[in-house]
Amino acid sequence: MPDAVGRGRAPEVSVLLLEDSEIDAELLAAHLEKAGIEFTLLRATNRREFVHALEEERCDIILADYSLPDFDGLSALNIARALQPDIPFIFVSGVVGEEFATNALKRGATDYVLKRNLTRLATAVERALEQAHEREERRRAEEALSRSQMRARLAIEGARLGLWDLDPRNGRLECDARTRDFLGLPADAEITYKRFLRLVHPDDRATLEAEIAGAIAGGDEQDRALVTEFRTGPEAAVERWLALRAQALFTDETCTRFVGVLRDITEERRARQELKGFAEKLEQEVAERTAERDRIWRLSRDLFAVATFDGRLRRVNPAWESVLGYDAGALVDSDFHLLIHKEDLAEVEGVIRTLASGQVAPRFEDRLRHADGSWRWISWTAVPEGDAFYAVGRDITEEKAAAEALAERNEQLAAQMAERERVEKELRQMQRLEAVGQLTSGVAHDFNNLLTVILGNIRFIERTLQREGLDGGVVDRLGHMRNAAERGAKLTGQMLAFSRRQKLEPKPVDLNDTVESMRELLQSTLGGTVRLETVLKTDLWSALVDPTQIELIILNLAINARDAMEVGGSLTVETANVMIKGEPGRPEEPGPGEYVMLAVSDTGHGMSEEVLAKAFEPFFTTKAVGRGSGLGLAQVYGFAKQSGGGVAIRTREGEGTTVSVYLPRAAEAPARLPARREVEAPAAPAGATVLLVDDDSAVREVTASLLREFGYGVIEAGSGNAALDALRGAARIDLLLADYAMPGMNGVETVREAQRLRPGLPSLFITGFADLAALREVGEERIIQKPFRDDELGRKVAAILGGERGANVVSLRR
Ligand SMILES: Nc1ncnc2c1ncn2[C@@H]1O[C@H](COP(=O)(O)OP(=O)(O)OP(=O)(O)O)[C@@H](O)[C@H]1O
Ligand SMILES: [Mg+2]
Repeated sequence: MPDAVGRGRAPEVSVLLLEDSEIDAELLAAHLEKAGIEFTLLRATNRREFVHALEEERCDIILADYSLPDFDGLSALNIARALQPDIPFIFVSGVVGEEFATNALKRGATDYVLKRNLTRLATAVERALEQAHEREERRRAEEALSRSQMRARLAIEGARLGLWDLDPRNGRLECDARTRDFLGLPADAEITYKRFLRLVHPDDRATLEAEIAGAIAGGDEQDRALVTEFRTGPEAAVERWLALRAQALFTDETCTRFVGVLRDITEERRARQELKGFAEKLEQEVAERTAERDRIWRLSRDLFAVATFDGRLRRVNPAWESVLGYDAGALVDSDFHLLIHKEDLAEVEGVIRTLASGQVAPRFEDRLRHADGSWRWISWTAVPEGDAFYAVGRDITEEKAAAEALAERNEQLAAQMAERERVEKELRQMQRLEAVGQLTSGVAHDFNNLLTVILGNIRFIERTLQREGLDGGVVDRLGHMRNAAERGAKLTGQMLAFSRRQKLEPKPVDLNDTVESMRELLQSTLGGTVRLETVLKTDLWSALVDPTQIELIILNLAINARDAMEVGGSLTVETANVMIKGEPGRPEEPGPGEYVMLAVSDTGHGMSEEVLAKAFEPFFTTKAVGRGSGLGLAQVYGFAKQSGGGVAIRTREGEGTTVSVYLPRAAEAPARLPARREVEAPAAPAGATVLLVDDDSAVREVTASLLREFGYGVIEAGSGNAALDALRGAARIDLLLADYAMPGMNGVETVREAQRLRPGLPSLFITGFADLAALREVGEERIIQKPFRDDELGRKVAAILGGERGANVVSLRR
């Protein structure tokens, strides 16, 4: 359809003209032109052209003649009505009667104009076009209205709204079926405003009535609209929540309608309520969680911290105050590195690097400085989150201390156990040495007796042969026998020394002097390949020691050293003052006290562990048969112990050995005596008689022979009792010479009894196995140790009997 012809705009009008007369057509056009109508003219002269134009061309108006050669105007009208009913149709005819005109208009023509009165044509055309235009407008408006009504209906339907229309003037309420349904009424029920109010829930009724009354009362535009919610009450068949949205409409300040819609919001409200409940619960839960977390944060004894990777503390909990003594607030923003012990820094930095790379760090420990300057051990767990990390730390200082204390205690226990083991070992070693000592001394005792007999007889024979002037092979053989027996005597002496059963005569001695005086002897003993050095302490304390024995000891050690240095080396004899404080580590070592130490060091092959463990045992030797008897160190040991000191060996295989002998410090200085001399046996006082008691007849016999040689008269007794009998009987007895160890009455007892019988009777003891406790009181001069040398016997007997005559005959013993 072409654009509507608007007045004033004067668009071109497309005119379809059905006219067979050329002249009439021109005339018609002229009239239209004259009237100022712009138009295009489409002319049809017969039915075919007319139909074609209607079907194919655009046209705004039809002008038609009534009488045409092939068909008439009424047929044309019918065709137009059928094909284009909205296009105005005007008859332009020559002869039109009243009846025709009425008929034409009845059949749908818009107008008619007489050809003889064409001046009316333009007006008729314009009016027809205008009417068509209006019709078109109306149709469009109606269409739009119906569309919008449809939309509203759809909307109302879609939104499931109920309609509500109240006339407040008479209380009439018009509702649709849905509103009735909402109110629990049948679809066709009559309803008034009053009845409606009864259906509202009593709790909401007054409020709703007041609200509606307010809207109806007017006021400003806002008051006239109402949006509210209410419940239907028990009077309605169902209880539900409804929302009313309505508007009061006014005519001349009087409310004539109050219209709106109702919506069932029961479900919505339930859902909303549920949602609200849910939201409230959630809120409460969140609040509770937050409170819990805050409580943990505040009350925990563990350290909580949020910190950045560059070392800043962002947040810390109050535990930092209780555990580390800092004001938690002051720590915020501080650098936590400053709190860490510098020995732990590297590890902590490693952990922070791990965290910064987004990984969870393994549990770690470090020390943090307490505000009071002490250190606390903290065990940490940390996780990274964004640009920071979260750390939880526990104070494990006490646990650590406990663990350390436990470890220490364990160590102590282990040390105690080791100490006990050592003491037990020492005890075992001592018991062994003790047992061996007893065995040794028993053997030594018996051997002494035998050797006394052998040596005594050898000397006796030697002297006899000398006297007879016999010489040669026999004397030599006797010499060998004597040497062998003397060597045996030396061994028994060493055995006795080991079992600490030798008679010692301790005196204050300057060991420096002793060493000096032995220098020559030592050098000759060592031979040319070994260099001898001495390191002698000036102001050396004097030692309380048997001077003869210490010389033997030094010699012994020097020989061991020489044997260890077969290819040469050096031997050092050293003296020193030593204060020992601790308990001895080995049985041979000295206990706490002041000692004069004498050490002999060599650069020899040293000792292995096994050799060292047994070195002091008697008869232990690594030397070839005939080269060592294994008694040297045993003697050193026994001597040192018996003297009240001890001995220690420091040795390393392949490097050398030092044997240090510790001797007790003497209270007094040594007396400066000339070299020891020995008085040769003086002649016996004339007629002097000795009573000799010895249970061993061989020993007794050889002793008696010697005494007789010296010129004494001798009475022999085999036991203490026999001796006492002799004392009771015999006339002259000047001296009682008693063996100490005898079955029945021993030497001391015999002497005691004898002195009861003959008060003031001088006595001498012979002993090979001196019970030192029993003879402690007896002076050295009254003891003769077996196997004795002839001259010793003669000298001591003569000395007791007052024979000083030989005092000018002296001989150097060495
Ligand atoms: N200075 C030393 N260097 C290396 N080993 C030594 C030394 N002194 C002693 N020994 C070792 O200790 C062992 C025992 O020594 P000890 O003096 O008791 O006996 P011995 O020397 O073998 O024999 P004896 O001394 O009775 O002639 C020796 O056989 C030797 O193995
Ligand atoms: Mg030796």
